[in-house]
Amino acid sequence: MRLSSAVDREIRGLIQKNGRITFAQFMQVCLYSPSGGFYSSRGNRISSHFGTSPTSHPVFGALIARQLEQMWHLLGDPPVFHVIEVGSGDGALARSIVDACWRIAPRLAQVLYYVATDYQPCWLQSPDHTSGWDFGTEGLMEPKKEDTILGIQRVKAEGSRPFQNVVGCILCNELIDNFPVHRFAIRDGRVKEVFVTSEGGNLTEVLDEPSTPRIEKRLASLELSLPEGYRGEVNLAMEDWTGQVARTLDRGFVLTIDYGKLAPDLYSPQNTQGTLVCYNRHVVSSNPYQDIGQQDITAQVDFTSLMRLGDRHGLTTVGYALQSQFLTNLGFSSFLDALRTQDLSAARMELGRMAMMTLVDSDEYGDFKVLSQTKGIGLGTELMGFENLGP
Ligand SMILES: C[S@@+](CC[C@H](N)C(=O)[O-])C[C@H]1O[C@@H](n2cnc3c(N)ncnc32)[C@H](O)[C@@H]1O
Repeated sequence: MRLSSAVDREIRGLIQKNGRITFAQFMQVCLYSPSGGFYSSRGNRISSHFGTSPTSHPVFGALIARQLEQMWHLLGDPPVFHVIEVGSGDGALARSIVDACWRIAPRLAQVLYYVATDYQPCWLQSPDHTSGWDFGTEGLMEPKKEDTILGIQRVKAEGSRPFQNVVGCILCNELIDNFPVHRFAIRDGRVKEVFVTSEGGNLTEVLDEPSTPRIEKRLASLELSLPEGYRGEVNLAMEDWTGQVARTLDRGFVLTIDYGKLAPDLYSPQNTQGTLVCYNRHVVSSNPYQDIGQQDITAQVDFTSLMRLGDRHGLTTVGYALQSQFLTNLGFSSFLDALRTQDLSAARMELGRMAMMTLVDSDEYGDFKVLSQTKGIGLGTELMGFENLGP
């Protein structure tokens, strides 16, 4: 594959200097290079490449607002309740949560201190952006311009000082699947790492001994039995992330929503080539070496490791559910019913219904996972989103 753009050149330079780079280094540059990584470039509005739950329908944020309200009560109604949303993208979730709080949880709205943080400058520069709202939710969630950004502090992630002593909730949707991953393959019964190199300007992969023992350590800790030829990913960046989150949070909750699975299902015979996927203007591919800097690269989250890392850092798992279960527990059907009672044309009602249903449909976002962890509180009550899930 020919290299050409600034990001291509940056990758070529790194490979020239070091002979090869890890896939995690490659992914870091592709997504986050200041010289034009997918998430750093201004032209790349997320919604022009793929949808997410918050961009699909604001009811997603409204239901999370209900969960946040209970969290606030469980913390003893503190006078300031922080929500730190990391990887806030276009700000759709921030706006829908803050709007919903004013409508359905006004006491929480009074004390809510919402911080939306991202590398992505789009949202930072366009606070009035309201795309994705026109789904026929008038009377229920229609955004008021003066409320839309009220209470949301927008922070550029890069170079910002980490937050401290947070009492509240650290929240992310589709963040961790975008952390750079190391790729591995099983050869001759051993774990080898996939490196990226260049031959005559074409990017190619080579297998060699892992660049860090942490890859094998992670896989060994999961006690998996991986067959010869198996390929997969290991998300080591989750380790630093969990440590940072635990240090940031004084008392409260972490709410992680993402696509992924528990380790035995993730590293399963169904995924013998891993879970890495690229999105470019709604086209899905498994080739990260094309359209460099122009496409998203993601890998499913290993929730087993995320929970274990949390345990190590004092974050106790208090809930793990499918997004469909989580939203249903929080009253998804009441919002669906409310839509039916609105004075909307049949076409607009159907549009709103279809957009809402993507949130719980198992072929869309319903199969995503929601993980809640706590720090600094003894939880006597189950969180509403995770009630009655059974064994
Ligand atoms: C798939 S998008 C999701 C955006 C949004 N949460 C949503 O659901 O629509 C992932 C976002 O995470 C951001 N991101 C990735 N790593 C980050 C980090 N360490 N700190 C802040 N933002 C990050 C990216 O810039 C990108 O906007």
